[in-house]
Amino acid sequence: MQCYAFLVHKIPVGVLGASGYAGRELCALIAAHPVFDLAFAAANAQRGQSIRARGHDITFIAPEDVNLEDAEMVFSALPHGTSLEWVCRARDAGARVVDLSADLRPGNGANETVPYGLTELTREQIGDARVVANPGCYPTAILLALAPLVTAGLALPGATISVSAASGVTGAGFTPKPDLMFAEVVEDFRAYAIGNEHRHLPEMNTVIRSLGGDHDIVFTPHLLPVARGILATIIVPVVDSLENPASVWREAYEGEPFIEIVDEPPALRDVVHRNVVMIHARRLANLREPALLVLAAIDNLMKGAAGQAIQNANLMAGLDETMGLPA
Ligand SMILES: NC(=O)c1ccc[n+]([C@@H]2O[C@H](COP(=O)([O-])OP(=O)(O)OC[C@H]3O[C@@H](n4cnc5c(N)ncnc54)[C@H](OP(=O)(O)O)[C@@H]3O)[C@@H](O)[C@H]2O)c1
Repeated sequence: MQCYAFLVHKIPVGVLGASGYAGRELCALIAAHPVFDLAFAAANAQRGQSIRARGHDITFIAPEDVNLEDAEMVFSALPHGTSLEWVCRARDAGARVVDLSADLRPGNGANETVPYGLTELTREQIGDARVVANPGCYPTAILLALAPLVTAGLALPGATISVSAASGVTGAGFTPKPDLMFAEVVEDFRAYAIGNEHRHLPEMNTVIRSLGGDHDIVFTPHLLPVARGILATIIVPVVDSLENPASVWREAYEGEPFIEIVDEPPALRDVVHRNVVMIHARRLANLREPALLVLAAIDNLMKGAAGQAIQNANLMAGLDETMGLPA
């Protein structure tokens, strides 16, 4: 048997914000990736500290010690507001960049327009992009759930779409906060950012408009006392009573490696540590006007962050989109 492993050209990649939840997940995925090779992992307060990811010891270096020229691909998992400057620096140093922050996402007021990395909807724009704006975690679940209905003109024009979504605590980042301490979240369940003011709303509204939708979204997020995972419960008024609603999603996402249309309501345990979105749709009974219930579940750190970032980086590098990703 011949061994071709030595022929594989490794692509050096760097992670900024590597010590955060999304950054750590990226480091773990890169450590197991057949082609990407970690050139640097940068942190701020945690500079100098080490973690073990998939059998590899990774030491975080200070951002000012990073040599951006060392990487052909850079992932920025920095907080929004901080990320954009580093994205520009990495791009100017010649790297291609996946930005996990909100800074360049649609609806966030960025002067610069870059492709939006909701891969299943924007795949054609990703391959040649120098910079890609990776979507937010809630928008990933909610937009992939809504897109087939909106693009097919089945969501009632002008209607209000109601979204109630619950996220695990890693969605709030690694920085310690009193209201995220174990005793504050365990055995509890609460809504936050109530009143339709969550910072992901402009991103979702802008993308829905770009898909031809004319809808209001009422979005109420909740904090779930688990580490990871998002379950979105979506109610959509529709133009007609659909005999077989799931067929709309099955048709739209046929052949998609990371989208699963399921007959039973998905649970978080079906999706955690996987780069998938699981979608379930059914008619709602006992209403005067037709409406659908759509449930979407993802792992916020995988399909909602690091997994989707690797999916986009694979396309940018001309690799198989699924490479190094747990389906
Ligand atoms: N968590 C999620 O589920 C999720 C999902 C989708 C997208 N995102 C986005 O991904 C990004 C990272 O999120 P996260 O949850 O991983 O956040 P996080 O856990 O708070 O991590 C933030 C990272 O940025 C570093 N950092 C903070 N300020 C910095 C500065 N001024 N200069 C250099 N490095 C700095 C931190 O380093 P130190 O800790 O060492 O200070 C840490 O590595 C955010 O933009 C977020 O919106 C997160």
